[in-house]
Amino acid sequence: IGLNSHYVKLTSSTNDLAKELAKEGVKDGTVVLAEEQSAGKGRLGRAWQSPGRSGLYFSVILKPEVSPMEVTQITMMASVAVAKTLERAFGVPARVKWPNDIYIQGRKVCGILAEMAAEADKVRFIVLGIGINVNQSIEDLGMLEQTATSLRAQVGYIVSRAELLKTLLEEMDYLYIKWQQEGFDPIKKMWKDLALWIGHTVTVSGLQKTWAGEMVDIDEYGALVIGFADGTRQTFYSGDVSLRMS
Ligand code: ATP
Ligand code: BTN
Repeated sequence: IGLNSHYVKLTSSTNDLAKELAKEGVKDGTVVLAEEQSAGKGRLGRAWQSPGRSGLYFSVILKPEVSPMEVTQITMMASVAVAKTLERAFGVPARVKWPNDIYIQGRKVCGILAEMAAEADKVRFIVLGIGINVNQSIEDLGMLEQTATSLRAQVGYIVSRAELLKTLLEEMDYLYIKWQQEGFDPIKKMWKDLALWIGHTVTVSGLQKTWAGEMVDIDEYGALVIGFADGTRQTFYSGDVSLRMS
């Protein structure tokens, strides 16, 4: 991962740029990095604030031989890589929130957006987009101040984005190879050790409906397993719902 890379000063979204490059045909593990995004995207059509200079915005093009069902596993692999890197390199208590966020002390520091191109149940490529709030000051976070944080706000100094990227890509490389060789089980175990809210009462919101229950587990695809008071269980997929603490 990262042996080939494309750097641009400004783009709408590194995920969109990476998708264009992937269609033209680039190598597995190519990294697309931008200094600033004018239309950074989150899950479910939401926007990702991507100011220049302060954040890290990049997408990795991956071409594993998997089915579309297995793509969430890659999001989880990346979440573990980010959380472990932040803990090791900066000593911050980073935790993963299902399906695609990294939190520090109750605030979001990183979001991950995996998109794919598939045909006939076979994945052609995956674009794994990662956005990290690195050097934003608390004032820079503005409207997000209540819900978001940056690495700088946590550690109190300006962080080298280049070094952070290098360490993170090394960790992703290690976990990606592990995932290809050993499957999802070891990644799932690491993810659960870092996960917020397992064993707690949570709210799951879909477009039409909301459920309250206990966050029990994630399944072999990374889907969310909720247990209800009547003893039944239900599985939720990341494309459909949002998870909140009750
Ligand atoms: P969930 O992922 O559980 O559905 P979420 O609120 O984290 O909930 P996402 O779609 O994952 O939603 O992320 C997009 C949201 O993140 C935006 O709606 C916005 O509230 C918030 N957000 C946008 N930019 C940033 C940023 N730079 N840092 C932290 N949070 C941000
Ligand atoms: C989320 O929290 O919903 C995911 C946010 C993902 C943001 C990153 S920044 C790099 C890549 N390009 C995008 O437009 N989105 C992802």
